[in-house]
Amino acid sequence: MFSHLLPVVVAFLPATVSAYGRIGHWLTGEIAHHLLSAPAKEWTNALLPEYDGSLARAALWADEVKPPWSKSHHYVNPPRDCTALSPTNCNCILSAIGNYTTRLADPTTPHPARNEALKFVIHYIGDIHQPLHVSGRFKGGTEMKVLFDSHHTSLHEVWDYLMLERSTKFLGLSRTDYAQHLLSNYPSPTPCPSSSSSFSPSPTLPACPLLWGTESANLNCGLVWANLTIGTDLAHSGYYDVALPALEQGVVAAAYRIATLINAIVEMPHDADPETLLKIQI
Ligand SMILES: *[C@@H]1O[C@H](CO)[C@@H](O)[C@H](O)[C@H]1NC(C)=O
Ligand SMILES: *[C@@H]1O[C@H](CO)[C@@H](O)[C@H](O)[C@H]1NC(C)=O
Repeated sequence: MFSHLLPVVVAFLPATVSAYGRIGHWLTGEIAHHLLSAPAKEWTNALLPEYDGSLARAALWADEVKPPWSKSHHYVNPPRDCTALSPTNCNCILSAIGNYTTRLADPTTPHPARNEALKFVIHYIGDIHQPLHVSGRFKGGTEMKVLFDSHHTSLHEVWDYLMLERSTKFLGLSRTDYAQHLLSNYPSPTPCPSSSSSFSPSPTLPACPLLWGTESANLNCGLVWANLTIGTDLAHSGYYDVALPALEQGVVAAAYRIATLINAIVEMPHDADPETLLKIQI
C-alpha cells in the first residue's frame, strides 16, 4: 500500500523552496555543532574543509546541488498522516538516512564519499523533522496556498522558513543568537530505542529515521493540517503561536540527533567490522 503512493509524488519540492528553505537547516547544523564532543569537532573539521567544519553551512549543500536522482531522498509520504512509519522498500528519506549513515560510519569509505555522506546525513535528518517532508497531502504542502503575514505563499514555505524568520525578527536576534536561544529553551528529544533499529546501519548507532518520521507524521495530523484554517492569515490567526513551538522543538531535536550520531561514529572502535555496518534492515 505504502509503495503504491510513491509514484504520485515525484515532482515534490519546487526549486524555489531551496532558495529560502535555509534557516531551518542552518539552525539545525549550528545547534548540532554546539553539541559535538571535542573529538567529533576535530573529526568534522577534517571532513568538511570547504566549510571550515561548519555544520550550519554544510547543512545547506544537499538543497544547493540537488541532483535529480536525490530528489526523492528529501521526503517520504506515509499512507495517511498519523500512521507510524514502517520498514518498507522505498527510495526515500528513510533509506537515504540509512545509506548515508552507513557510508559515513564505515572507515573504509574514501574521503570524498564520506564528506558527501556527512552533508547528506545532516540535511536529511533536518528534513525528516520538518513535518511537511513526511506528508503526501498537497505535495507536502507545496500546493497548499496560504496567507502568511499578508504574503501569498505555501504551507510548506511557512514551515520551511517563514515562521523561523518571523521569530528571529520578532526576538531581534542574529541567527547565531537565535540558535543559542533555541538550544536553551528546548529539551533533548526522545532517544532512539535500541529495539527499533530498522534502517539503522548498526544497533550501536543511534540512527532512528522510523521514529523520527513517525513523530513528524503525528504532528501532521495533530497540528500542521488540523489547526489550519484556510482564508485566514496564519501569522495572525493563532496558527503561528501554536505551530512555532512545535517547529522549534523539531529543529532542536534534529540538532541533538545529528550530534548524537556523529559523536557515536567518532567513538566507534577503529577496528569495528565494516560488515556489521552494512546490515541496513529495509
Ligand atoms: C547510497 O549512496 C550512494 C552514493 O550516493 C549511491 O550510489 C547508492 O546507490 C546508494 N545506495 C542505496 C541503497 O540507496
Ligand atoms: C488544534 O486542532 C485540534 C484538532 O482540531 C484541536 O483539538 C486543538 O485544540 C487545536 N489546538 C489549538 C491550540 O488550537
